[in-house]
Amino acid sequence: MDSFVIHGGRRLEGSIRVSGSKNASLPLLAAALLTDEPVTLRDVPDLADIRNMLGLLAELGCGRQSEPAPGGGVENPLTLRVTDPAKSHARYEIVRTMRASICTLGPMLAKRGQAQISMPGGCAIGDRPVDLHLRGLEALGAEVTLRGGDILAKTPPGGRLRGDTIFLGGPFGSTVLGTANVMSAATLAEGTTIIESAACEPEVVDLANLLTKMGARIFGAGSPRITIEGVERLGGADHAVIPDRIEAGTFMCAAAITNGSVTIENCPIDTLLAAVDRLAHAGVHVQTAPGADPLHATCRVTVDRVLRPIEITTQPHPGFPTDLQAQFMALLALADGNSVITERIFPERFLHVAELGRMGAHLFRAGPTVVVSGVKRLTGAPVMASDLRASASLVLAGLAAEGTTIVNRVYHLDRGYERLEQRLAPLGARIERVPESA
Ligand code: EPU
Repeated sequence: MDSFVIHGGRRLEGSIRVSGSKNASLPLLAAALLTDEPVTLRDVPDLADIRNMLGLLAELGCGRQSEPAPGGGVENPLTLRVTDPAKSHARYEIVRTMRASICTLGPMLAKRGQAQISMPGGCAIGDRPVDLHLRGLEALGAEVTLRGGDILAKTPPGGRLRGDTIFLGGPFGSTVLGTANVMSAATLAEGTTIIESAACEPEVVDLANLLTKMGARIFGAGSPRITIEGVERLGGADHAVIPDRIEAGTFMCAAAITNGSVTIENCPIDTLLAAVDRLAHAGVHVQTAPGADPLHATCRVTVDRVLRPIEITTQPHPGFPTDLQAQFMALLALADGNSVITERIFPERFLHVAELGRMGAHLFRAGPTVVVSGVKRLTGAPVMASDLRASASLVLAGLAAEGTTIVNRVYHLDRGYERLEQRLAPLGARIERVPESA
Protein backbone atom coordinates (compact mmCIF):
# COMPACT_ATOMS: atom_id res chain seq x y z
CA MET A 1 0.00 0.00 0.00
CA ASP A 2 1.20 3.53 -0.80
CA SER A 3 2.65 5.84 1.84
CA PHE A 4 3.09 9.59 2.13
CA VAL A 5 6.40 11.25 2.84
CA ILE A 6 5.61 14.69 4.27
CA HIS A 7 8.23 17.41 4.62
CA GLY A 8 6.66 19.49 7.37
CA GLY A 9 6.92 23.02 8.69
CA ARG A 10 5.65 24.84 5.59
CA ARG A 11 2.94 27.47 5.83
CA LEU A 12 -0.04 26.73 3.53
CA GLU A 13 -1.19 29.63 1.40
CA GLY A 14 -3.51 29.80 -1.59
CA SER A 15 -6.85 28.43 -2.59
CA ILE A 16 -8.42 24.96 -2.70
CA ARG A 17 -11.81 23.62 -3.86
CA VAL A 18 -13.87 21.18 -1.80
CA SER A 19 -14.98 18.02 -3.66
CA GLY A 20 -18.44 16.46 -3.64
CA SER A 21 -19.28 14.67 -0.41
CA LYS A 22 -18.30 11.01 -0.07
CA ASN A 23 -20.85 10.28 2.64
CA ALA A 24 -23.64 11.97 0.69
CA SER A 25 -22.69 10.21 -2.56
CA LEU A 26 -22.86 6.66 -1.17
CA PRO A 27 -26.62 6.60 -0.33
CA LEU A 28 -27.34 8.77 -3.40
CA LEU A 29 -25.74 6.12 -5.62
CA ALA A 30 -27.75 3.40 -3.85
CA ALA A 31 -30.96 5.37 -4.53
CA ALA A 32 -30.53 4.53 -8.24
CA LEU A 33 -31.81 1.05 -7.27
CA LEU A 34 -35.25 2.57 -6.56
CA THR A 35 -36.11 3.25 -10.21
CA ASP A 36 -35.86 1.73 -13.69
CA GLU A 37 -34.99 5.12 -15.15
CA PRO A 38 -31.51 6.69 -15.31
CA VAL A 39 -30.23 8.66 -12.32
CA THR A 40 -27.48 11.20 -12.98
CA LEU A 41 -25.26 12.48 -10.19
CA ARG A 42 -22.78 15.35 -10.51
CA ASP A 43 -19.64 16.11 -8.52
CA VAL A 44 -19.30 12.55 -7.19
CA PRO A 45 -15.71 12.34 -5.88
CA ASP A 46 -13.30 9.85 -7.42
CA LEU A 47 -12.55 7.76 -4.31
CA ALA A 48 -11.95 4.11 -3.45
CA ASP A 49 -15.26 3.90 -1.50
CA ILE A 50 -17.18 5.31 -4.48
CA ARG A 51 -15.52 2.84 -6.86
CA ASN A 52 -16.43 0.02 -4.45
CA MET A 53 -20.05 1.19 -4.36
CA LEU A 54 -20.16 1.36 -8.17
CA GLY A 55 -18.75 -2.18 -8.28
CA LEU A 56 -21.44 -3.37 -5.86
CA LEU A 57 -24.22 -1.64 -7.80
CA ALA A 58 -22.97 -3.27 -11.02
CA GLU A 59 -23.23 -6.66 -9.28
CA LEU A 60 -26.78 -5.72 -8.30
CA GLY A 61 -27.68 -5.09 -11.94
CA CYS A 62 -27.39 -1.29 -11.75
CA GLY A 63 -24.70 -0.29 -14.24
CA ARG A 64 -22.94 2.89 -15.06
CA GLN A 65 -24.07 4.43 -18.35
CA SER A 66 -21.24 6.99 -18.56
CA GLU A 67 -17.53 6.69 -17.89
CA PRO A 68 -16.41 9.73 -15.89
CA ALA A 69 -13.02 11.22 -16.72
CA PRO A 70 -10.52 10.95 -13.84
CA GLY A 71 -10.74 13.75 -11.32
CA GLY A 72 -14.52 13.94 -10.78
CA GLY A 73 -15.96 17.46 -10.89
CA VAL A 74 -19.25 19.17 -11.72
CA GLU A 75 -18.68 18.73 -15.44
CA ASN A 76 -18.35 15.03 -14.88
CA PRO A 77 -21.81 13.50 -14.52
CA LEU A 78 -22.21 9.87 -13.58
CA THR A 79 -25.34 8.10 -14.80
CA LEU A 80 -26.62 4.84 -13.37
CA ARG A 81 -29.46 2.66 -14.61
CA VAL A 82 -30.91 -0.66 -13.47
CA THR A 83 -30.73 -3.21 -16.27
CA ASP A 84 -31.01 -6.49 -14.34
CA PRO A 85 -33.23 -6.30 -11.23
CA ALA A 86 -32.91 -10.06 -10.61
CA LYS A 87 -29.58 -9.79 -8.75
CA SER A 88 -30.13 -8.79 -5.14
CA HIS A 89 -27.17 -10.23 -3.23
CA ALA A 90 -24.50 -7.90 -1.76
CA ARG A 91 -21.71 -10.39 -1.05
CA TYR A 92 -19.38 -10.49 1.96
CA GLU A 93 -16.32 -9.82 -0.24
CA ILE A 94 -17.69 -6.35 -1.06
CA VAL A 95 -19.41 -5.46 2.24
CA ARG A 96 -16.17 -6.37 4.06
CA THR A 97 -14.31 -3.63 2.16
CA MET A 98 -17.02 -1.02 2.60
CA ARG A 99 -19.60 -0.88 5.40
CA ALA A 100 -21.67 1.67 3.50
CA SER A 101 -22.80 -1.25 1.28
CA ILE A 102 -25.59 -1.50 3.88
CA CYS A 103 -27.31 1.48 2.25
CA THR A 104 -28.33 -0.72 -0.70
CA LEU A 105 -30.59 -2.72 1.67
CA GLY A 106 -33.56 -0.31 1.93
CA PRO A 107 -33.71 0.56 -1.80
CA MET A 108 -33.40 -3.09 -2.93
CA LEU A 109 -36.02 -4.29 -0.48
CA ALA A 110 -38.53 -1.60 -1.43
CA LYS A 111 -38.10 -1.92 -5.20
CA ARG A 112 -37.40 -5.63 -5.67
CA GLY A 113 -39.32 -7.03 -2.73
CA GLN A 114 -36.23 -8.76 -1.38
CA ALA A 115 -32.58 -8.20 -0.55
CA GLN A 116 -29.69 -10.28 0.69
CA ILE A 117 -26.70 -8.47 2.11
CA SER A 118 -23.79 -9.68 4.11
CA MET A 119 -23.98 -8.42 7.72
CA PRO A 120 -21.24 -5.78 8.16
CA GLY A 121 -18.72 -6.68 10.86
CA GLY A 122 -16.99 -4.33 13.31
CA CYS A 123 -14.48 -1.84 12.01
CA ALA A 124 -11.47 0.12 13.24
CA ILE A 125 -13.61 2.82 14.89
CA GLY A 126 -15.89 0.48 16.87
CA ASP A 127 -18.56 -2.24 16.78
CA ARG A 128 -20.96 -0.33 14.53
CA PRO A 129 -24.11 -2.47 14.76
CA VAL A 130 -26.98 -2.21 12.22
CA ASP A 131 -29.82 -3.11 14.61
CA LEU A 132 -31.57 0.24 14.07
CA HIS A 133 -31.57 -0.21 10.27
CA LEU A 134 -33.20 -3.63 10.67
CA ARG A 135 -35.66 -2.50 13.32
CA GLY A 136 -36.75 0.37 11.07
CA LEU A 137 -37.29 -1.88 8.05
CA GLU A 138 -39.15 -4.44 10.20
CA ALA A 139 -41.48 -1.67 11.36
CA LEU A 140 -42.33 -1.17 7.66
CA GLY A 141 -43.42 -4.82 7.54
CA ALA A 142 -40.19 -6.40 6.24
CA GLU A 143 -39.41 -9.97 7.32
CA VAL A 144 -35.76 -9.97 8.31
CA THR A 145 -33.70 -13.08 9.06
CA LEU A 146 -30.01 -13.80 9.41
CA ARG A 147 -28.53 -16.79 7.54
CA GLY A 148 -24.90 -17.71 7.04
CA GLY A 149 -23.76 -14.19 7.94
CA ASP A 150 -26.23 -12.62 5.48
CA ILE A 151 -29.20 -10.39 6.25
CA LEU A 152 -32.22 -11.65 4.28
CA ALA A 153 -35.08 -9.17 4.00
CA LYS A 154 -38.36 -9.49 2.13
CA THR A 155 -41.51 -7.46 1.84
CA PRO A 156 -44.70 -8.77 3.55
CA PRO A 157 -47.31 -10.79 1.62
CA GLY A 158 -48.71 -8.47 -1.05
CA GLY A 159 -45.19 -7.41 -1.96
CA ARG A 160 -45.18 -3.85 -0.64
CA LEU A 161 -43.82 -2.30 2.55
CA ARG A 162 -46.36 -0.50 4.79
CA GLY A 163 -45.86 2.94 6.30
CA ASP A 164 -45.66 3.23 10.08
CA THR A 165 -44.24 5.43 12.84
CA ILE A 166 -40.67 4.43 13.69
CA PHE A 167 -38.36 5.58 16.47
CA LEU A 168 -34.75 5.45 15.19
CA GLY A 169 -32.82 6.67 18.25
CA GLY A 170 -30.15 4.44 19.80
CA PRO A 171 -27.69 4.71 22.68
CA PHE A 172 -25.48 7.08 20.67
CA GLY A 173 -28.25 9.13 19.06
CA SER A 174 -29.77 8.50 15.68
CA THR A 175 -28.17 6.69 12.76
CA VAL A 176 -27.22 8.42 9.54
CA LEU A 177 -27.19 5.45 7.15
CA GLY A 178 -30.09 3.85 9.08
CA THR A 179 -32.18 6.97 8.44
CA ALA A 180 -31.11 6.87 4.78
CA ASN A 181 -32.13 3.21 4.50
CA VAL A 182 -35.54 3.58 6.14
CA MET A 183 -36.34 6.87 4.36
CA SER A 184 -35.41 5.37 0.97
CA ALA A 185 -37.48 2.22 1.60
CA ALA A 186 -40.48 4.24 2.83
CA THR A 187 -40.69 6.23 -0.42
CA LEU A 188 -42.24 3.17 -2.12
CA ALA A 189 -44.24 1.91 0.90
CA GLU A 190 -48.01 1.94 1.06
CA GLY A 191 -49.19 4.82 3.26
CA THR A 192 -47.30 7.28 5.43
CA THR A 193 -44.11 6.70 7.41
CA ILE A 194 -42.92 8.94 10.22
CA ILE A 195 -39.30 8.57 11.29
CA GLU A 196 -38.92 9.98 14.79
CA SER A 197 -35.38 10.68 16.08
CA ALA A 198 -34.16 10.75 12.49
CA ALA A 199 -30.56 11.78 11.78
CA CYS A 200 -30.40 15.50 10.90
CA GLU A 201 -27.11 15.30 8.98
CA PRO A 202 -26.84 17.29 5.71
CA GLU A 203 -26.21 14.01 3.85
CA VAL A 204 -29.75 12.89 4.82
CA VAL A 205 -31.14 16.18 3.47
CA ASP A 206 -29.22 15.70 0.21
CA LEU A 207 -30.68 12.21 -0.17
CA ALA A 208 -34.20 13.53 0.51
CA ASN A 209 -33.61 16.17 -2.18
CA LEU A 210 -32.63 13.54 -4.76
CA LEU A 211 -35.55 11.27 -3.81
CA THR A 212 -37.94 14.22 -4.08
CA LYS A 213 -36.64 14.93 -7.60
CA MET A 214 -37.34 11.25 -8.36
CA GLY A 215 -40.97 11.76 -7.31
CA ALA A 216 -40.89 10.88 -3.59
CA ARG A 217 -42.95 12.85 -1.08
CA ILE A 218 -40.68 13.65 1.88
CA PHE A 219 -41.17 16.38 4.49
CA GLY A 220 -38.96 17.46 7.38
CA ALA A 221 -35.57 16.06 6.28
CA GLY A 222 -32.89 17.82 8.34
CA SER A 223 -35.14 17.76 11.43
CA PRO A 224 -35.58 14.86 13.89
CA ARG A 225 -39.01 14.01 12.43
CA ILE A 226 -39.23 13.01 8.76
CA THR A 227 -42.59 12.22 7.14
CA ILE A 228 -42.68 10.16 3.97
CA GLU A 229 -45.88 9.62 2.00
CA GLY A 230 -45.34 6.48 -0.07
CA VAL A 231 -45.75 6.61 -3.87
CA GLU A 232 -46.26 3.80 -6.43
CA ARG A 233 -43.10 4.44 -8.40
CA LEU A 234 -40.06 6.69 -8.68
CA GLY A 235 -38.49 8.08 -11.86
CA GLY A 236 -35.05 9.25 -12.94
CA ALA A 237 -33.42 12.51 -11.85
CA ASP A 238 -30.36 14.72 -12.23
CA HIS A 239 -28.69 15.91 -9.02
CA ALA A 240 -25.47 17.60 -7.90
CA VAL A 241 -23.98 16.15 -4.68
CA ILE A 242 -23.37 18.62 -1.82
CA PRO A 243 -19.74 19.53 -1.10
CA ASP A 244 -17.93 17.45 1.51
CA ARG A 245 -18.20 19.19 4.90
CA ILE A 246 -15.57 16.93 6.47
CA GLU A 247 -13.07 17.63 3.71
CA ALA A 248 -13.77 21.37 4.13
CA GLY A 249 -13.22 21.10 7.90
CA THR A 250 -9.99 19.17 7.30
CA PHE A 251 -8.74 21.97 5.00
CA MET A 252 -9.58 24.52 7.72
CA CYS A 253 -7.43 22.54 10.16
CA ALA A 254 -4.64 22.31 7.55
CA ALA A 255 -4.60 26.10 7.22
CA ALA A 256 -4.66 26.57 10.99
CA ILE A 257 -2.05 23.96 11.94
CA THR A 258 0.48 25.42 9.47
CA ASN A 259 -0.21 29.00 10.59
CA GLY A 260 -1.36 29.55 7.03
CA SER A 261 -3.87 31.61 5.10
CA VAL A 262 -6.10 29.54 2.83
CA THR A 263 -9.18 30.29 0.74
CA ILE A 264 -11.60 27.37 0.60
CA GLU A 265 -13.94 27.32 -2.39
CA ASN A 266 -17.21 25.39 -2.66
CA CYS A 267 -17.33 25.30 1.14
CA PRO A 268 -20.63 24.12 2.75
CA ILE A 269 -20.20 26.60 5.60
CA ASP A 270 -23.80 26.24 6.76
CA THR A 271 -23.12 22.59 7.67
CA LEU A 272 -19.95 23.39 9.64
CA LEU A 273 -21.12 25.90 12.21
CA ALA A 274 -20.13 23.79 15.24
CA ALA A 275 -16.61 23.29 13.88
CA VAL A 276 -16.27 26.97 12.94
CA ASP A 277 -17.42 27.95 16.44
CA ARG A 278 -14.73 25.76 18.02
CA LEU A 279 -12.10 27.13 15.62
CA ALA A 280 -13.07 30.70 16.54
CA HIS A 281 -12.54 29.90 20.23
CA ALA A 282 -9.13 28.42 19.37
CA GLY A 283 -8.13 31.59 17.47
CA VAL A 284 -8.79 30.40 13.92
CA HIS A 285 -10.85 32.80 11.81
CA VAL A 286 -13.14 31.59 9.04
CA GLN A 287 -14.51 34.52 7.08
CA THR A 288 -17.26 34.19 4.51
CA ALA A 289 -18.18 36.92 2.07
CA PRO A 290 -21.63 38.37 2.91
CA GLY A 291 -24.40 36.99 0.71
CA ALA A 292 -22.46 33.85 -0.18
CA ASP A 293 -24.37 30.64 -0.99
CA PRO A 294 -24.16 28.87 2.41
CA LEU A 295 -23.61 25.46 0.78
CA HIS A 296 -21.06 26.64 -1.80
CA ALA A 297 -19.32 29.57 -0.11
CA THR A 298 -15.81 30.89 -0.51
CA CYS A 299 -14.18 31.13 2.93
CA ARG A 300 -10.86 32.55 4.02
CA VAL A 301 -9.12 30.84 6.93
CA THR A 302 -6.51 32.72 8.93
CA VAL A 303 -5.08 32.07 12.36
CA ASP A 304 -3.81 33.96 15.42
CA ARG A 305 -0.15 33.40 16.26
CA VAL A 306 -1.03 31.44 19.39
CA LEU A 307 -3.73 28.74 19.35
CA ARG A 308 -5.93 28.68 22.45
CA PRO A 309 -7.02 25.40 24.08
CA ILE A 310 -10.73 24.46 23.80
CA GLU A 311 -13.24 21.77 24.78
CA ILE A 312 -14.90 19.62 22.15
CA THR A 313 -17.68 17.04 22.50
CA THR A 314 -18.74 15.18 19.38
CA GLN A 315 -22.48 15.02 18.83
CA PRO A 316 -24.98 14.26 16.09
CA HIS A 317 -25.50 17.14 13.64
CA PRO A 318 -25.71 20.12 14.14
CA GLY A 319 -23.23 19.36 16.96
CA PHE A 320 -19.51 18.89 16.44
CA PRO A 321 -18.96 16.01 13.96
CA THR A 322 -17.13 12.86 15.03
CA ASP A 323 -15.54 12.82 11.56
CA LEU A 324 -13.50 15.94 12.51
CA GLN A 325 -12.49 14.83 16.00
CA ALA A 326 -9.12 13.37 14.98
CA GLN A 327 -8.15 16.37 12.83
CA PHE A 328 -8.95 18.80 15.68
CA MET A 329 -6.87 16.69 18.05
CA ALA A 330 -3.83 17.18 15.79
CA LEU A 331 -4.49 20.94 15.75
CA LEU A 332 -4.97 21.22 19.52
CA ALA A 333 -1.75 19.29 20.11
CA LEU A 334 -0.09 22.63 19.29
CA ALA A 335 -2.37 24.89 21.39
CA ASP A 336 -1.12 26.88 24.36
CA GLY A 337 -2.67 24.83 27.21
CA ASN A 338 -4.93 21.85 27.90
CA SER A 339 -7.83 20.98 25.61
CA VAL A 340 -10.44 18.32 26.38
CA ILE A 341 -11.99 16.18 23.63
CA THR A 342 -14.89 13.82 24.36
CA GLU A 343 -16.14 11.35 21.74
CA ARG A 344 -19.87 10.64 22.14
CA ILE A 345 -20.63 8.94 18.80
CA PHE A 346 -17.88 6.31 18.51
CA PRO A 347 -16.30 6.11 22.01
CA GLU A 348 -13.43 3.94 20.71
CA ARG A 349 -12.49 6.21 17.80
CA PHE A 350 -8.99 7.03 19.04
CA LEU A 351 -6.59 5.18 16.71
CA HIS A 352 -4.72 8.42 16.14
CA VAL A 353 -3.89 9.00 19.83
CA ALA A 354 -0.88 6.68 20.08
CA GLU A 355 0.39 7.70 16.64
CA LEU A 356 0.18 11.44 17.39
CA GLY A 357 2.07 10.61 20.58
CA ARG A 358 4.89 9.24 18.40
CA MET A 359 5.17 12.72 16.91
CA GLY A 360 5.52 14.38 20.30
CA ALA A 361 1.88 15.20 21.14
CA HIS A 362 1.01 14.99 24.86
CA LEU A 363 -2.29 13.11 25.04
CA PHE A 364 -3.93 11.46 28.04
CA ARG A 365 -6.94 9.24 27.37
CA ALA A 366 -9.53 8.16 29.94
CA GLY A 367 -12.38 6.24 28.28
CA PRO A 368 -14.12 8.46 25.71
CA THR A 369 -12.16 11.57 26.76
CA VAL A 370 -8.70 12.74 25.76
CA VAL A 371 -6.86 15.61 27.43
CA VAL A 372 -4.61 17.28 24.89
CA SER A 373 -1.79 19.09 26.61
CA GLY A 374 -0.43 21.45 23.98
CA VAL A 375 3.26 21.34 23.05
CA LYS A 376 5.43 23.89 21.26
CA ARG A 377 6.30 21.60 18.35
CA LEU A 378 5.65 18.20 16.80
CA THR A 379 8.45 16.18 15.24
CA GLY A 380 8.27 14.01 12.12
CA ALA A 381 8.07 10.23 12.58
CA PRO A 382 6.90 7.11 10.74
CA VAL A 383 3.23 6.61 11.65
CA MET A 384 0.25 4.55 10.57
CA ALA A 385 -3.50 4.48 11.21
CA SER A 386 -6.11 2.04 10.02
CA ASP A 387 -8.95 4.53 9.83
CA LEU A 388 -9.71 7.32 7.37
CA ARG A 389 -10.01 10.32 9.71
CA ALA A 390 -7.15 9.15 11.95
CA SER A 391 -4.97 9.11 8.82
CA ALA A 392 -6.09 12.66 8.00
CA SER A 393 -5.05 13.82 11.46
CA LEU A 394 -1.59 12.31 10.96
CA VAL A 395 -1.20 14.10 7.63
CA LEU A 396 -2.13 17.39 9.35
CA ALA A 397 0.36 16.73 12.13
CA GLY A 398 2.99 15.90 9.48
CA LEU A 399 2.36 19.22 7.69
CA ALA A 400 3.10 21.10 10.92
CA ALA A 401 5.88 18.90 12.28
CA GLU A 402 9.59 19.59 12.12
CA GLY A 403 11.33 17.14 9.79
CA THR A 404 9.90 14.28 7.80
CA THR A 405 6.79 12.26 8.58
CA ILE A 406 6.00 9.01 6.81
CA VAL A 407 2.31 8.10 6.91
CA ASN A 408 2.05 4.43 6.04
CA ARG A 409 -0.94 2.74 4.38
CA VAL A 410 -2.54 5.89 2.96
CA TYR A 411 -5.08 3.51 1.43
CA HIS A 412 -7.35 4.57 4.30
CA LEU A 413 -6.89 8.25 3.49
CA ASP A 414 -7.61 7.61 -0.20
CA ARG A 415 -11.01 6.23 0.80
CA GLY A 416 -12.14 9.74 1.75
CA TYR A 417 -9.84 12.36 0.23
CA GLU A 418 -9.31 12.61 -3.50
CA ARG A 419 -5.61 12.95 -4.51
CA LEU A 420 -4.96 14.91 -1.31
CA GLU A 421 -1.21 15.30 -1.88
CA GLN A 422 -1.73 16.76 -5.37
CA ARG A 423 -4.43 19.16 -4.24
CA LEU A 424 -2.43 20.48 -1.27
CA ALA A 425 0.73 20.95 -3.38
CA PRO A 426 -0.31 24.35 -4.89
CA LEU A 427 -0.77 25.60 -1.31
CA GLY A 428 2.90 24.85 -0.59
CA ALA A 429 2.59 21.40 1.01
CA ARG A 430 5.39 18.97 0.18
CA ILE A 431 3.91 15.50 0.21
CA GLU A 432 5.30 12.67 -1.92
CA ARG A 433 3.31 9.54 -2.56
CA VAL A 434 5.54 6.49 -2.47
CA PRO A 435 3.97 3.49 -4.20
CA GLU A 436 4.00 0.18 -2.36
CA SER A 437 6.57 -1.41 -4.66
CA ALA A 438 9.09 1.46 -4.29
N1 EPU B 1 -25.57 2.68 15.81
C1 EPU B 1 -26.29 1.71 16.49
N2 EPU B 1 -27.13 0.91 15.77
C2 EPU B 1 -27.32 1.05 14.42
C3 EPU B 1 -26.59 2.03 13.75
C4 EPU B 1 -25.73 2.85 14.47
O1 EPU B 1 -26.16 1.56 17.70
O2 EPU B 1 -28.09 0.29 13.85
C5 EPU B 1 -24.65 3.54 16.56
C6 EPU B 1 -23.23 3.50 16.01
O3 EPU B 1 -22.50 2.41 16.53
C7 EPU B 1 -22.71 4.85 16.43
C8 EPU B 1 -23.93 5.75 16.28
O4 EPU B 1 -25.07 4.88 16.34
O5 EPU B 1 -22.34 4.82 17.79
C9 EPU B 1 -23.97 6.55 14.99
O6 EPU B 1 -23.71 5.69 13.88
P1 EPU B 1 -24.33 5.96 12.44
O7 EPU B 1 -25.22 4.83 12.07
O8 EPU B 1 -24.91 7.34 12.39
O9 EPU B 1 -23.05 5.87 11.51
P2 EPU B 1 -23.07 5.45 10.00
O10 EPU B 1 -24.33 5.92 9.37
O11 EPU B 1 -22.72 4.01 9.86
C10 EPU B 1 -22.04 7.63 9.00
C11 EPU B 1 -20.79 8.01 8.26
C12 EPU B 1 -19.61 7.97 9.22
C13 EPU B 1 -19.88 8.93 10.37
C14 EPU B 1 -21.20 8.54 11.06
C15 EPU B 1 -21.60 9.49 12.18
C16 EPU B 1 -21.17 7.22 6.00
C17 EPU B 1 -20.79 6.30 4.91
N3 EPU B 1 -20.55 7.07 7.17
O12 EPU B 1 -21.85 6.29 9.43
O13 EPU B 1 -18.50 8.46 8.48
O14 EPU B 1 -18.83 8.89 11.30
O15 EPU B 1 -22.26 8.52 10.08
O16 EPU B 1 -21.75 10.78 11.69
O17 EPU B 1 -21.98 8.11 5.81
C18 EPU B 1 -16.23 8.66 7.89
O18 EPU B 1 -16.58 9.30 6.89
O19 EPU B 1 -15.02 8.61 8.27
C19 EPU B 1 -17.23 7.95 8.68
C20 EPU B 1 -16.94 6.96 9.50
